[in-house]
Amino acid sequence: MALISTSVRVPAWARHLGSFGAVLGALVFLSAAVLPATGAPAGKPLRIGFAQTGAESAWRTANTESMKSEAARRGIDLKFSDAQGKQENQIRAVRSFIAQRVDAIVLAPLVETGWDPVLREAKRARIPVVITDRTIQTSDESLYACFIGSDFLEEGRMAARWLAKEVGGKGRIVELQGTPGAAPANDRRKAFAEGIAGFPELKIIDSQSGDFRRSGGKEVMEAFLKKHGRTIDIVYAHNDDMALGAIQAIEAAGLRPGTDIVIVAIDAIREAIEAVATGKMNRPLELSPLFRPKVYDTIDRLLAGEKVERKAYNQDELFDRTNAAAALPSRRY
Ligand code: AHR
Repeated sequence: MALISTSVRVPAWARHLGSFGAVLGALVFLSAAVLPATGAPAGKPLRIGFAQTGAESAWRTANTESMKSEAARRGIDLKFSDAQGKQENQIRAVRSFIAQRVDAIVLAPLVETGWDPVLREAKRARIPVVITDRTIQTSDESLYACFIGSDFLEEGRMAARWLAKEVGGKGRIVELQGTPGAAPANDRRKAFAEGIAGFPELKIIDSQSGDFRRSGGKEVMEAFLKKHGRTIDIVYAHNDDMALGAIQAIEAAGLRPGTDIVIVAIDAIREAIEAVATGKMNRPLELSPLFRPKVYDTIDRLLAGEKVERKAYNQDELFDRTNAAAALPSRRY
């Protein structure tokens, strides 16, 4: 894996200048002016800006909570911004973090594209940016320090593999997509479609965005049921909230979710695991929202001038009827 470092400290040879205090002082002064940030001055809390996408799902709320509580535990001054699902709000938040000269910025990008200008501004200000959760597309990989999150392509593949086996390679699928342009929506869609391509009788008959929201999943599923009636065999939802919304629509239509319609989704929030335990959902894939130690540890290392992994992936887990009930007591989100 490629390693990069965004932080530069006073060079070793400068530390050996010993009695040339004045020269060293001048060097340190110059370094501060031209080299990347090296963290908060001793005794001052680290100041980190976190530009979050919004609060569209239970997963997102757990992710925000974990970042905030760990910041409090470590005495970090976390400047939090909820973009309410709008990229322009996130860009504005990043700009405000730059203006406040924070030590580092954490960005959970709503969509994949359109970040280069603001990331260039952060780079010019020598503030390292850690991209979390969702990947971005950029023309210049040096614009951010590293990525920490999950492999959404692998999640789409896992969902397809599990489903093909579960339904014997046969069935009519409706897909509930996440936010248009978001990495998890793009990747989970692409990898799932590729994963079922080898099964000619397993077909996606309709696919629409529910914006990763429970209300969106419910509305889109109502429309699917109106359009396709009882010919729907499977729901593939890009997240649990949309699947839980779809379950409401399926029940309201007099059908049994998990039995009449197989449901596979991604996130593994508590309510989804409960739905698996009661047979209303067939399988959620876990996407852990608890990034907190990894993100702050990485920032500490970056600011100390250490090299960090360019891309660090979280380990996802699978839940089904065999392990759902056992997972519930320790599930916090
Ligand atoms: O980016 C991760 C996705 O965003 C999660 O699957 C979803 O629940 C969230 O809103």
